Amino acid sequence: MPVAEPVEWGAGDVPHSPRFGDIYHSCSGALAQARHVFLGGCGLPGAWAGQAQWRILETGFGLGLNFLAAWHAWRQDPARARLLHFVSVEAYPVAGADVRRAAALHPELGALGEALAAQWHGLLPGVHRLAFDEGRVLLTLGIGEARQMLRALAPFEADSIFLDGFSPAVNPDMWAPELLKTVARFARRGTRLATWSIARPLRDALVPLGFSAHKAPGLPPKRDCLQARFDPAWTPRRAPPPPEQAAQPGTCLVVGAGLAGAAVAASLARRGWQVTVLEAAADPAAGASALPVGLMAPHWSPDDALMSRLSRAGIRVGWQPLQDWLVPGRDWQPGGALERRDDTQRMPDGWQADGPNESWYATASRLHEAGLAPQTPALWHARAAWVRPARLIAAWLSRPGVQLRTGMRVSRLVRCGGSWQALDQNGTVLAQAERVVIAAGIDSRALAPGLPLNAVRGQVLTGPCPGGEDGAALPSHPINGDGHLIPGVPDEAAHTRFWLAGSTYGRGEDTRDIREEDTVANLARIARLHGGAGTLAADAHAGGQTQAWAGVRCTSRDRRPLVGPLDPLDPAAAQGPWICSALGSRGLSFAALCGELLAARWSGEPMPLAHALAAALDTRRLS
Ligand SMILES: Cc1cc2nc3c(=O)[nH]c(=O)nc-3n(C[C@H](O)[C@H](O)[C@H](O)COP(=O)(O)OP(=O)(O)OC[C@H]3O[C@@H](n4cnc5c(N)ncnc54)[C@H](O)[C@@H]3O)c2cc1C
Ligand SMILES: C[S@@+](CC[C@H](N)C(=O)[O-])C[C@H]1O[C@@H](n2cnc3c(N)ncnc32)[C@H](O)[C@@H]1O
Repeated sequence: MPVAEPVEWGAGDVPHSPRFGDIYHSCSGALAQARHVFLGGCGLPGAWAGQAQWRILETGFGLGLNFLAAWHAWRQDPARARLLHFVSVEAYPVAGADVRRAAALHPELGALGEALAAQWHGLLPGVHRLAFDEGRVLLTLGIGEARQMLRALAPFEADSIFLDGFSPAVNPDMWAPELLKTVARFARRGTRLATWSIARPLRDALVPLGFSAHKAPGLPPKRDCLQARFDPAWTPRRAPPPPEQAAQPGTCLVVGAGLAGAAVAASLARRGWQVTVLEAAADPAAGASALPVGLMAPHWSPDDALMSRLSRAGIRVGWQPLQDWLVPGRDWQPGGALERRDDTQRMPDGWQADGPNESWYATASRLHEAGLAPQTPALWHARAAWVRPARLIAAWLSRPGVQLRTGMRVSRLVRCGGSWQALDQNGTVLAQAERVVIAAGIDSRALAPGLPLNAVRGQVLTGPCPGGEDGAALPSHPINGDGHLIPGVPDEAAHTRFWLAGSTYGRGEDTRDIREEDTVANLARIARLHGGAGTLAADAHAGGQTQAWAGVRCTSRDRRPLVGPLDPLDPAAAQGPWICSALGSRGLSFAALCGELLAARWSGEPMPLAHALAAALDTRRLS
């Protein structure tokens, strides 16, 4: 199976599909056609003026030209919607180089095409979220057969629909009545649909689905195009909006300024919510997120289990804020990680050495670089990084619309009229807002006693990275396996670098005292991960140069985060307190995804991951 769908670039740089024997775009003025047929056909950009969000659904992502045209129009429009969602499906993703090449043919799209190509990686079958312009332009890509992918998406109401398969003669699936029926499920009354095809069977299929369709003038050399509007004579059967969906962004309290609370606050604020974060400590990142540096690496399993897919979705969503706001080499370091494990005989179905999966067997040169023997069983995760959690939290908390109030320990949440009040232990009102989210890590137990949250104590060890030849004793990249080792993290104040290794797991324990036996266990762990580092760490410890740090993780029974209403059994409680916690040992991988998920649920938006995966994080799975 080829890694990427081949594209043939013909005379005049016209992209052609050998699979379908058709061209991706018309021979002349591809961008002008996209603007005329699709944007213009749906009344854009005018239609999105002043809206909180605009949601475009497309069939056939191809080279992404319609997406880039929509994004470009959105950027140019001072009256643009606050958030632009573009959801598209594609069975045969092309190479990033072809995406770049198609965009580069249009000078105004060049930079946008580069940005799209930069996120064009890891596109395994399934739903992927790409984010641009600091998360205000969200592209949700369903990689797979169109109808199957549309069914995998969580339901949402599309404001515009672009139908863009190849010609019906060569690509009938993309115009089949069953597919159009699935597409129509996303339409609300007034949704406009546009396409270049004026085929009679298409028009005939749209009408019984509730669309009134008419031919419209095309852009020469095309004579016509098709425009339609969803306006059925009957009341379409639709699930009622979920009770948590807010008519418009309002005010929200978030309890806890760790990774979870900061991520939720930033996601809500980007959608126009006014968010107050209440933190018990004097500074944010006071709980488990005070971890000096952590590893963000995907979970891997031979059968690509749920946790593996969730962790990749989380890392994809979490990667963007890191790239947008943090300084590489100082606050975080992308560049991959090696995972030592013995059960790598079988790879998940469909994975190949050259992707699109971003994890594969570590090559001999990777092992050599890491200072490991050539036969060491290990994986290489290209999409992995170390991150200093406090830096990410600070970036999220500094987003417009987020207000941090420290020294505010919330003891109780009470309903008062249409608002929630956060009270301290004396019953004094600390703050109030329409909504409230508990993101207090393991201390969420006090505010959410009904939820099964478990404490898992953990201790890590840090020590100085030696310079000169001794420095080579450490691997160049993080290594994980039974624990993890992160080398070369800068300590700016001391102008030195440190390594961190860990961690211990004390199930059911919620104390943060430093224990020598945990340090001994961590030293043994380092030695198992990497011989050279083991010796170096033991020497540093003997010389009194190491330091330990301990924190308490919060986990759920199935080790997946919990995002949703506090009382999953009571539908009426959907506007009551929500929780975002139980990030377990993967706060860096999950925080951004959980924040986006919560915010998407409150706004009825397309989800950043497939419906089934989103449900796997919802508190309602407990009911
Ligand atoms: C030893 C160890 C190693 C780890 N290594 C990694 C790693 O390598 N990679 C990774 O991804 N994850 C790692 N983790 C997990 C990660 O640290 C957590 O998943 C993450 O920090 C949890 O974030 P949180 O916001 O849910 O909770 P916390 O960070 O605990 O934040 C909760 C916040 O709420 C505040 N708070 C509590 N109660 C109240 C209240 N009543 N009122 C107001 N504020 C309150 C607290 O002060 C705190 O600031 C590790 C954890 C530990 C302990
Ligand atoms: C005309 S091209 C789309 C052009 C694209 N909208 C753009 O702006 O560049 C049609 C796309 O539909 C995809 N496609 C064809 N059949 C499909 C199917 N059954 N499911 C999903 N995608 C399909 C093709 O691979 C191709 O990329």
